Formats: sequence, C-alpha cells, structure tokens
Amino acid sequence: MFPEIDRVLVSEAQIRQRVGELAREIAADLRAELDAEGQTLHDEDRVVFIPIMTGAMIFASDLIRQMPIKLSLDLVAVSSYPGETVTSKGAHLASDLPADLGGKHVVVIDDILDSGRTLALIKRVVAERAPASLRIAVLLDKQTERAEEVVADYVGFEIPDEFVVGYGLDYNGYYRNHPEIAVLRPDAIPSRGG
Ligand code: IMP
Ligand code: MG
Repeated sequence: MFPEIDRVLVSEAQIRQRVGELAREIAADLRAELDAEGQTLHDEDRVVFIPIMTGAMIFASDLIRQMPIKLSLDLVAVSSYPGETVTSKGAHLASDLPADLGGKHVVVIDDILDSGRTLALIKRVVAERAPASLRIAVLLDKQTERAEEVVADYVGFEIPDEFVVGYGLDYNGYYRNHPEIAVLRPDAIPSRGG
C-alpha cells in the first residue's frame, strides 16, 4: 500500500483471526467476573474500555465490535514518541482520565507494549481510581528490555525489537491506515540512517 514498506510482520488475515480470539477471551473473562457479582454482560455501568490514543484506535474499534458487552468507551491520550523519533521519550498523560472508574471493570487497550512506560503510567493512574478490576490488552508485545515492568493480560502477537507501523501504529504520524503490521525501509526513517 505504501512504497516505504519493507516487510510485513503480521498480515491482515492473521490480525483478523487473532483479534477475534482476543475478543472472545476478554468477553469470557469479564463474564466470569460479572457472574461472581451476580451481574451480566448486559448490566449497565460495569465495564469501561480505555483505548490509548491514537495508536489503539484501529485495534480497539475492531475488538469492541466483536464483543456483545454493555460497555462505555473513554479515550485517553499518552504522548511519548514526538515527531520523527523511534525511541520513547518518556510517557506523559496528554488528556484527563475519566473520573468515574471506581468499582468498574476496566480494560485498557493499547497498540503495542514497548518500553512499558505508557502502560505503567496508565496502570498507576487507573489504579488510583479504585476500579473493581483492571486488565490490559495489547495487539503487539515487543520483545525488548522494558524500562518499566508491565505484563499485559492479553497479547495479540509477540514481535521482535523492530519499529513497526500499520493497523494504528505510526511513524511521525503516518502509516496508521496501513492494514497490516509492517516494517519501513531504513531510508524512510531519517534517524535510522537512511
Ligand atoms: P512504551 O511506552 O515504550 O511501552 O510505548 C508504547 C507506545 O509507544 C505505544 O502506545 C505506541 O504508540 C508507541 N510505540 C512503541 N513502539 C512502537 C513501534 O514500533 N511503532 C510505532 N509506535 C510504537
Ligand atoms: Mg501509543
């Protein structure tokens, strides 16, 4: 789709199948949790999904449409890769977190777990709101050394330590609309010596 794409790591078909599996797994776990409370997936005010903008946008939209759960969505923005950089500059919240998470089952969704800074930060601030439960779902888990130790409850794919784009992930704001997970040609990333 873009001439700057070098290689595909995860195809559209693989993503579609795996997102379906994750949706079923997450729904089953939430069902068990709500069962234990004597409630159901259709009761109001129990489940909040928090996609981390902007990278989680496409993953989250595909995931939640496969889950027949009464859920509300609250977006949160975290910034850590400003401009033409492929290394994390440290995560900070770029928007307010929803206030009313107390007693609710929260599922945080992100595109990729890399240094761990983003999800460690979100985990901390969500935990301060005293949710009934907190789960983390990521499409990709980059096999790299974490700056902060975070374990995701749901992982789509483990990938090697490479900078990837597509299916929501960007380089310098672009390629989010590429439908598969791909690696850019080195000359498309100025900071990588192209
Ligand atoms: P962390 O805070 O280093 O774990 O990085 C998490 C965030 O950095 C993700 O939400 C992504 O937005 C971004 N990120 C990390 N690795 C990549 C990548 O390979 N491509 C594009 N974005 C990435
Ligand atoms: Mg992100």
